[in-house]
Amino acid sequence: MITCIGAGPGHLDFLTRRGAELVSNADVVAGFDAVVDVVRPLLVQDQQVITMGYRDQVARLSEVAALHHAGQNCVVVFMGDIHFSGFQFLERVETACGHPVETVPGISSAQMLASRGRVCFDETTFLTFHRRGDLGPFKTHLRDVLRAGRNAIVIPRPWDFMPPDVATYLLSQSVSPAHPVEVWEHLSRAEAEWKGRLGELEGQTFSDMSILLIRALTPMPTGLEGER
Ligand SMILES: C[S@@+](CC[C@H](N)C(=O)[O-])C[C@H]1O[C@@H](n2cnc3c(N)ncnc32)[C@H](O)[C@@H]1O
Repeated sequence: MITCIGAGPGHLDFLTRRGAELVSNADVVAGFDAVVDVVRPLLVQDQQVITMGYRDQVARLSEVAALHHAGQNCVVVFMGDIHFSGFQFLERVETACGHPVETVPGISSAQMLASRGRVCFDETTFLTFHRRGDLGPFKTHLRDVLRAGRNAIVIPRPWDFMPPDVATYLLSQSVSPAHPVEVWEHLSRAEAEWKGRLGELEGQTFSDMSILLIRALTPMPTGLEGER
């Protein structure tokens, strides 16, 4: 058996009980170093741990797949939720195994940011640029959701499409510089790393663990106005 589980982001408090149970009962626990570190307190004796980075992920995942095919119970831990900015890694796991695998959702950095920034999913579009391949369609989608009056929660791509590059792109597309923006680097902290307007974001520097909230210029009506 092999299962992919979402863990984090960044803290064990945001792992589901189901995910924790699967980690503790696995023969093999695999994932990127930083994500395996999050679940390390749950590891028990005799478990095999396979950590990886961007460069050796394909080779390490083929080791995991071989153990899975040999009958070991394997889990691959993903940062946050698999279903947001995790599908390319999932595809790598499935390519290594040669078949679809089970997934267990986790809590995403996007959900944490929605909670920190107090925005609801209904009025907010989630977009990730943290992916290989052509970013063009995702860039135009971001521009269009802002034009449509929605908020956007955006994962940038280290290091060629970071928050200031997101601003440069949007301003070049005539998106208003007045959009309120927050950049969070560590969602477990109480305050955003940076708060300002879209037009002030160029020239700022952030780490690869940053995520943006770009608010709509005008909040949508709640629909309950008439009841007040
Ligand atoms: C490949 S994406 C994976 C996202 C993940 N699947 C999720 O649901 O949060 C990794 C990016 O998520 C963002 N991220 C994840 N955890 C974060 C945290 N604790 N604080 C800020 N950003 C975070 C950063 O932009 C990071 O580079």
